[in-house]
This record gives sequence, C-alpha cells and structure tokens, in this order.
Amino acid sequence: MVKEVVSVFADVPEGVFIDATIGLGGHALAVERDLPGKFIFFGFDRDGEMIELAKDNLPESYRLFKMTYSQIPLMLEGENTGPVTGVLFDLGLNSMQLERGERGFSYHEKSFLDFRFDRSSGQPFHRMVDKFSLLELVNILKTYGQEKNARAISRAIIDQRPKTTDGLAAIIRKIVGPRNYNKAASRVFQAFRIYVNNELDEFEKALRGIIPLISKGGRIAVISYHSLEDGIAKKILRLFSGKCQCGPGRGICECGARRIIDIKTKKPFRPNEMEIRKNPRARSARLRYAEKI
Ligand SMILES: C[S@@+](CC[C@H](N)C(=O)[O-])C[C@H]1O[C@@H](n2cnc3c(N)ncnc32)[C@H](O)[C@@H]1O
Repeated sequence: MVKEVVSVFADVPEGVFIDATIGLGGHALAVERDLPGKFIFFGFDRDGEMIELAKDNLPESYRLFKMTYSQIPLMLEGENTGPVTGVLFDLGLNSMQLERGERGFSYHEKSFLDFRFDRSSGQPFHRMVDKFSLLELVNILKTYGQEKNARAISRAIIDQRPKTTDGLAAIIRKIVGPRNYNKAASRVFQAFRIYVNNELDEFEKALRGIIPLISKGGRIAVISYHSLEDGIAKKILRLFSGKCQCGPGRGICECGARRIIDIKTKKPFRPNEMEIRKNPRARSARLRYAEKI
C-alpha cells in the first residue's frame, strides 16, 4: 500500500518522519521520492541485520537506529529532533527475513527455530522449547495464533521438543493433514514469533508513547497484518481520539482516554487485487491513520 502511505503524508507540515519499522526502507524511500524535501528521516528496526541492509539502500541523510519501537519515545525525548509530523508502523516481518532460512522464521526453510528479530539478545526458540509446560504452549497457540488444534499440537511439541523449523512443521502437518497444513503452520509460526518478541505489548507501548509526541497536523499510519495487531491499533487510536475504552458499568473513566487525534479511517484501507497478485502476503494488510490536533 505504498501509494496510500504516501497520500497519508502528502498534506502534513514539514518535519521529522519516524519510520518505526524501516526494514529495507521501501516505504520511506517512496515517501521521500513523492514528497521531496518535506521530511528528515529517522528509521528504526529491532533487527540489526535489517539496519545494515537499510544503510546500503538509503541515502546517508537518513538517521538509522537499531532499536525496538517501544524505546522510540524515550529516544525522541532526549534528542532535539524538531517537530515530528510523520510516523509509520509497517508491522511484522519482511520477505528478506522470511527468505533467509537461517533466521528460523519460516516453515518453508530448514533451520534451527529462532523467531527473534534481534538475534543479539534473548534466547532462540530452540533453547526455550524444552522448558514450556503444556498449558503455556496451549495458551501461546490459542492467544497469538487462534489455533483450533492448539492442544494437540502442544502435546506433540511436549513429546518431541522440536529444535528445527522442519521438525515443528512435521508435527503440524501430521496433526492437521496436508489440506490445512499451510494455514495452520503460518498460525503456529506466527504465534511463537509474537510470543518470543513480545510483539503485542511492544506495539501498544510504542503507540501510547509516540502519539503524544507528534506535532499538530502531523499524522500516524499503521499497517497491520493480523487481527491482534489491528485490534491494538484500533483501540489505541480510539483512546487518543477521546473514546473511553472502560466498557459499560464503570462510573469513572480509568482508561486515560483523551482527544488529541482525529481518526481519518473509519474503515481501514485494504490492498487492491493487483497488489495482492504481486505480493500475496499483502492480502491481510490493513492501513489505519490519524491526525494530531
Ligand atoms: C514489514 S517490515 C517493514 C518493511 C518496510 N516498511 C519496507 O518498506 O521495507 C517490518 C520490520 O519491522 C521490524 N520490527 C519488528 N518488530 C520490531 C520492533 N519491536 N521494533 C522495531 N522494528 C521492529 C522487522 O525487523 C522488519 O524489518
């Protein structure tokens, strides 16, 4: 949704553009190409390997940081960056990470199970897998993968304690059968990736921290790829547009709702058929955006 992303930022005041998930820099470069001179670019990625690739791809004027996006607000507060008028989150992982077999993200590639965006900290999944209880695994697969066969898959993981992508893939295939294999494998791999990187908490913390730092007239756009991410984007944008999230039956608002943004997308943008044909992984993408008031 490159065209849509560019159009979100076409009318914002000049200032700093925060690409919270720079990846290979495709979106930032498109914004710069189509809106020349409007922004100074700051790019962030939790994955140091992506930052190195981005350095080769992007002009020297870009300031690039290996950092998880929940830390961006702290970093911005300590720097005199000038007004932030563009923020982009393009969540999840990019095709380069999936295709590099040794990263252990993909069930199509053989490698040790890892799932970390930042391989310089924390533990790869193949070192954790011996420690999970049945209940923990079921919870992960149900919560982050909405996986119907969570219990059966978890039992098999407990029995076999797989260390490799193909080992885990074989367990899933045996339980769900070849017809349902691809969808189940992507749900299970997604669930473990979300768990290992604490993705949902990181994302919510980042949104809560960054929105107040955007200058008047600046905009924030979020592209999400599954309902859990989109649910958080929707909830936090609503919270900062002043809609109380406490639910019925509470006398006093405790959620901290306050109106500092206007939501511009009642319904999220979806990619068109042509984009989906070019990049089938874009099928589930949803773009929401809001403007600081
Ligand atoms: C879909 S890709 C972004 C692609 C990018 N928009 C482009 O045009 O190349 C998502 C990126 O977010 C990064 N990422 C994932 N979790 C992150 C986090 N917590 N903080 C910062 N970056 C993160 C991934 O490493 C990946 O490079």
